[in-house]
Amino acid sequence: MKILVINGPNLGLLGVREPDIYGRTTLKDVENELLAVAAEYADCELEFLQSNHEGVIVDRLNSILVDDAVDGIVINPAAYTHTSVAIADALRACSKVPAIEVHISNISSRESFRHESLTAPACVGMIAGLGTDGYSFALRALLKRLGK
Ligand code: DQA
Repeated sequence: MKILVINGPNLGLLGVREPDIYGRTTLKDVENELLAVAAEYADCELEFLQSNHEGVIVDRLNSILVDDAVDGIVINPAAYTHTSVAIADALRACSKVPAIEVHISNISSRESFRHESLTAPACVGMIAGLGTDGYSFALRALLKRLGK
């Protein structure tokens, strides 16, 4: 079983970027935590993608329909959450593969432009405001949903 973990723009700067909002945990730390969670399950492989480019994220989501090797998606689209019809459409196109959206911060309690997620309706659920722990909660929820 393979889970694709996608992080959008500026999330490569986790740990140094606005630490009062996003904390001091780096993206590498998050990935290592997810690898530790995956290791608790038999046959769970993770693929990580961080990109600052909308098209790169859309291309990877599209390729799921072609190579069919991904069973679930954890995605933090970052700022694209609030703007990207293209990523929302790409998630819908591969909706047979369940996706869970993660936000480190509580987007509902921040500026009003962050309140709407265009991408969350294309996902089976969303976790927001629980810090970087949200990623491992999302991975566990996804694996449970996939029968693990
Ligand atoms: C974020 C919230 C977004 O509004 C913001 O643009 C991000 C990070 C989060 O994880 O809290 O880059 O997705």
